[in-house]
Parts: sequence; C-alpha cells; structure tokens
Amino acid sequence: MPVAELLRQIPLELPDPERLRDSIRQAFHVTFDSYESLFTLLRNDEAYLRKPIALRHPLIFYLGHTATFFINKFVLAGIDSRRVDPRLESMFAVGVDEMSWDDLDDRQYAWPRVEDVWAYRTKVREHVDTVLDRLPLNGPVGWDSPWWVVLMGIEHERIHLETSSVLIRQQKLDLVCANAAWAPCRETGDAPVPEFVDIPPLRFRLGRERADPGCYGWDNEFGEHQASTDAFRAGRYLVSNHEFLAFVTDGGYQNDRYWTEEGLAWKRFAKVEHPEFWIRHADGWRLRLLAEETPMPWDWPVETNAHEAKAFCNWMASETGLGIRLPGEDEWHALRIHAGVPDGVREPLPKAQIGLAQQASSCPVTRHAHGPLCDVVGNVWQWCETPMHPFAGFAVHPAYDDFTTPTFDGRHALIKGGSWISCGNLAEPASRYAFRRHFFQHAGFRYVAAERPPSMPRLSRYEDDAQVAQYCEFHWGDTFFEVPNFPKALAHLCVQAMEGRPMHRALDLGCATGRATFELARSFQQVTGIDFSARFISVGDRLLRDGCIRYTVIDEGELVGYREHTLAEHGLQAFGSRVTFFQGDACNLRTVFTGYDLVLAANLIDRLDNPRLFLQEIHRRINRGGLLVIASPCTWLEEHTPRANWIGGFKQDGESFTTLDGLHALLDANFEQFGPAHNVPFVIRETRRKFQHTVSEVTIWSRR
Ligand SMILES: [Fe+2]
Repeated sequence: MPVAELLRQIPLELPDPERLRDSIRQAFHVTFDSYESLFTLLRNDEAYLRKPIALRHPLIFYLGHTATFFINKFVLAGIDSRRVDPRLESMFAVGVDEMSWDDLDDRQYAWPRVEDVWAYRTKVREHVDTVLDRLPLNGPVGWDSPWWVVLMGIEHERIHLETSSVLIRQQKLDLVCANAAWAPCRETGDAPVPEFVDIPPLRFRLGRERADPGCYGWDNEFGEHQASTDAFRAGRYLVSNHEFLAFVTDGGYQNDRYWTEEGLAWKRFAKVEHPEFWIRHADGWRLRLLAEETPMPWDWPVETNAHEAKAFCNWMASETGLGIRLPGEDEWHALRIHAGVPDGVREPLPKAQIGLAQQASSCPVTRHAHGPLCDVVGNVWQWCETPMHPFAGFAVHPAYDDFTTPTFDGRHALIKGGSWISCGNLAEPASRYAFRRHFFQHAGFRYVAAERPPSMPRLSRYEDDAQVAQYCEFHWGDTFFEVPNFPKALAHLCVQAMEGRPMHRALDLGCATGRATFELARSFQQVTGIDFSARFISVGDRLLRDGCIRYTVIDEGELVGYREHTLAEHGLQAFGSRVTFFQGDACNLRTVFTGYDLVLAANLIDRLDNPRLFLQEIHRRINRGGLLVIASPCTWLEEHTPRANWIGGFKQDGESFTTLDGLHALLDANFEQFGPAHNVPFVIRETRRKFQHTVSEVTIWSRR
C-alpha cells in the first residue's frame, strides 16, 4: 500500500480555502483506506478477536477505534452532535495504550461481529464526508479551528496505522496472510562494519509556535526548548541485527549487570532471551515481518524495546571502555542538523524508508545515506534516553487533553526518526512520541559515544497533590470575580506601609507556594519564605530552580485541567536571587531567622496551634521601627487551634472579644498599630464551579 500522499502533512497556509478543504478530504480518505487495507492482512475472524499480546485489546477494537475517534471528537468539539452508533462508540472509545508490563488486560468484552465493524466504518466515512462538505473554512486553520480536530482524527488514525501494524507482526503467523500491497523489502546482504561519526557541539531551539503551526502538531511539540549539546560521536548506522547478535551470543540477556533495574524486572517477568521479532529455527534465526517469516536479514536494523537497547549499550561500553549510550533528544536533533535533515514541513524530507513510500518493512541500514550518517529518519524509530517532558509553554489541546499528560511521568522514553510506516506527523522530525520502555514498536536504536550523560529534563511531573495545586492556583493562577491576587495585594500593602523605612530583609511566614515572597523581593534585598509544609515549600523551590510550575486543578469530579505558570509571566524572574525558602514552624523558628525589617504573617495565626506564643515572641525577630503585618480571616477552628489558645472570636466577661482585641492584648507591649485595619478579599478556586470568597482582616504593627 505505498501511497506517497500519506507521507507528509498538509501545509495549512494554502491560499485557496477550497483547495485546502479538498486536500484535507483527500488525506482523510487516503488514511482511512490505508488503515482498512492493513486489516486485509488478517486471515479470519479469529485474527481480529484473538489478542496478539496480553497488554492490548484485540485488533477488532482498533478497527473500530479510529473511526469512533472522529465521531467522539466531533461531538466533544461541538462540530457535529450526531452519533453513528452510540453502542459501538462507547465500546471503541478508549484504547489500552499505556499499561505496565505486568498489568494484563484480562477484561472480558463481548465484541461485535467483524462484518458489523466494517459496516460501521463505511457509515463513519460517509458521516465524516458530510462534515467535511459543510464545515465552514474561511480563516486560517490553526490550533483553535474546528479543522484542527479533523486533522487530529487523521493523525490519530496514522498513529494507529503504525501501532496496529506492530500488533499484526505480533499476531500468530497462521492468522495472517500476505498480500502484494504490503510486500516487504527483499534486499539484504552483509551487515556493515560499525563506524563513528563526529558530531560537533551545537546550540539550537526546539518547539513549534502555536501562532504559526504550518501544519498539524500534537500538544507536546509546541512551546520552547533551548538545546545545547557537547561534542559526541554517533554510530553511522542504526544497530543492525548482525551487530546485536554479538550481544545475544555473548550472554547479554543472561547477564543482569547490563540491565537497568526497571529493565531487569521486565526481563525476568517476560523471560526474554532475544529480540521480540527474532525467531529461532533449527536452520538459524528468522525475522517476523508483517505476514511472513524471512531468513534473518543481518544488515537490517535490529528492533528492540528501550530496555534491550540500553542493555546493549551497557554491554558495548564494558567491551570497549567507551561511554556508549543512547542519544538524548537534543543529541538526536544535533545529529539530524549535522546530517542536513530539515526539521519542518515546508522543506522536503530526504529519501528514506518512511511513510510507506517504499516497501512495507525495514531495509538495509546502508541504503539511505543522510549526510555522513544513514537512516537519520526512517527505517525504524530510534530510542532516546530522554523521557517525555513538556517544553516551556506547554498547553493541552481541549479536544484531547490526555494525549501527552499521562506520559509526563519519567517512565515514557522518547522515540525519534520514524519508521517505514510512519506517515504524516509521525514522519516529521519535530514530532515527539514516547512509549513505556518495555513497549515494542518498529523501533531500534543508534548508539552514541559521549563523555557525559545527556542533559535530562528536570521537570516531568505535574503537581497533583490537590491541596498544593489549589494553592498554586491561588497564588500563581487566574483571578476570579475581579478579586485581585491576594498575596500580590498583601505584598503591595506591605511595601506601601514601609515607606521611609529600611527595606533590607523580609520574612514571609506561612508563605505557602511563595507568591508574596517573590513579590516582596521586588523591594526587599533579601526575602525568606517559611512554611510548615514541605509540599508547599517545594513549589517555591521549583520556581527558583525552573522558573516554572505545572499542576492540575479539579474541574469537576474526576476531570482535571492543566496549568503552567512562570515567574517571567509575572515579571518576577529577576528577583529569584533574593529569595530563599525554608521549612519551619512559626511557633518554633530557628534563631537565625531574625533581624527583619518586615514580617508578613498572611492567613497564619488562625492556623497555628499556639498563636499566643507566636504573637508574644515575634517582636524578637523584627528590627526596631520594622513592621509586622498580620492578615487573618479570623476563622478560628478547633481542628487547627485548641479553643483555649484562640486569641479572639469569643465572649469575655459577657462582651464580644474579637481577634483584633486579642492582637492588641498580645502585641501592644512591643508594637503600635500603624494605620487602620484593612479588608483584603481573596478567592480560592475549589472546582470550575465552586469558590471560597473570604475577606481577610489586615493589620499593620510598628515595632517599638
Ligand atoms: Fe487511540
């Protein structure tokens, strides 16, 4: 089924909208056709219903799934509310794409008849055609356009074209039948002698711009990443079956010391002794292709998962004494740039075994030279050491908010370069796909020799601790109901009150996720943020380290939204050097925390076990003439403060005794109240539809 139109994505800046509409329609049909053609390799109903591997659904699911995806996304995006078959559309909605290697999918499904799924696909094709006919196409097609969702459906099907072809390679041989449309390469010869190519140090930028995408892209490709790579050496060729054989015959699978801890656990569980698609016969090794076995083509690239690739590198490192490892994502791009392979849809890809442009299999690793290297793109995917991580400015697309975010867990390794069946976005060097390290794709590897490990992303997790995330949003996120940001407003009030006083050192007690700490650093030379909770302090530390935080917020029930905020967007990036965070107890601070010109205690006193003690002692830490600023919503609760320790909010001698009365009683010996009490409101978002709106009483006290 070599169809050249499948290879590249559609450029979105076509001047004539109707031509663009026709191009998208053609891409839809060609992709739909190719996907259906792939399934003609299945011999009978059993081939559809029998799971090729325990971790995934049987192929009948995937036949329906890519069609259902169009309908479900059209409904979700408000493009078309009609369903084609609600029962099938609920059955085919969610794949089993991301499971652990020991997490077998043994749920029992009553799958529909195979011919019913084929009939369903025909109906979906007609349905999508009618949508493509009448969907308005006037402005440019970008991230926010309904046409982006159409392109998403096409690219989603191209992903499954590839992953389903892997499942077909894993299906029992007697359940598949070869056909001419999917004929493999027949060329093979002696494997080349491995050589290295020197790659010079490089600096470059990765990441696509949402304002000018040029073509469709997945969420993880957008944003900005500044890369800087040292000099290293890269293998000229992908590792061939022949080169990998030396590792197998040297006992590489039996020797635990070459395997990572995670790789070792997988190897023991899966009891592997050789690559997945290698088959040992009495007359020697053979290779499983889509629908046949062939005598081992020793000069084709070996296909492994990331664990096997890493174990090979460790074995080769111990054999040669060189720093052999997989490339990092940045290093892969460095060798791509060095080889002269462009990184954008506007430039042609070099001739390569990619996009079904040639045969339906790998080919010799020597066939396609790209500059001084071979197979920089195409043939098989190349495992990288780098785990999937977001570029700065990452945002999810609302029509597919869990495309990438579940893979920001450090356990999904990036693959680069594409394979013989990678079409559209998959064939773009800018694309970023990642799989669990035990997963098999049409993927192999190229090793590099380097002195140091590759640079690793420091941030790969979303803060999903609900309370911490709520405070991240409170401090760094959106404002609601036109109520200004609370910690920022407090810091502003503090700085105003400081007028004419020295502003060297400030202490933000109960700093939570640190917004006021950073805001105070605009005016103070040194600001210390202290909170009882290490979970909160870690947010401030992350902002200091990365300038950026990411967290999930609850939208409703189990649905979450994804947020990213930076110091730069608040104009605070220059002040990090003035800020330090510590974990500490406001009632029992270490003696070093003293000599402050300002102490801010925001929404703190009614959260302390013993606020009396705190208020009686705090003057020791403030310079004469300095200020203490106390903000409190006066919500005295036994769960935080035993009733006996409340400083106000009760009747005393028959009269109301307020928190302000209590503050005077405890502070007047060492402070003088400065100006009137202020009411400063704040809003904490609980869910998309539930907010706490509170008014804090703010008083300012000048140290005598
Ligand atoms: Fe899917």
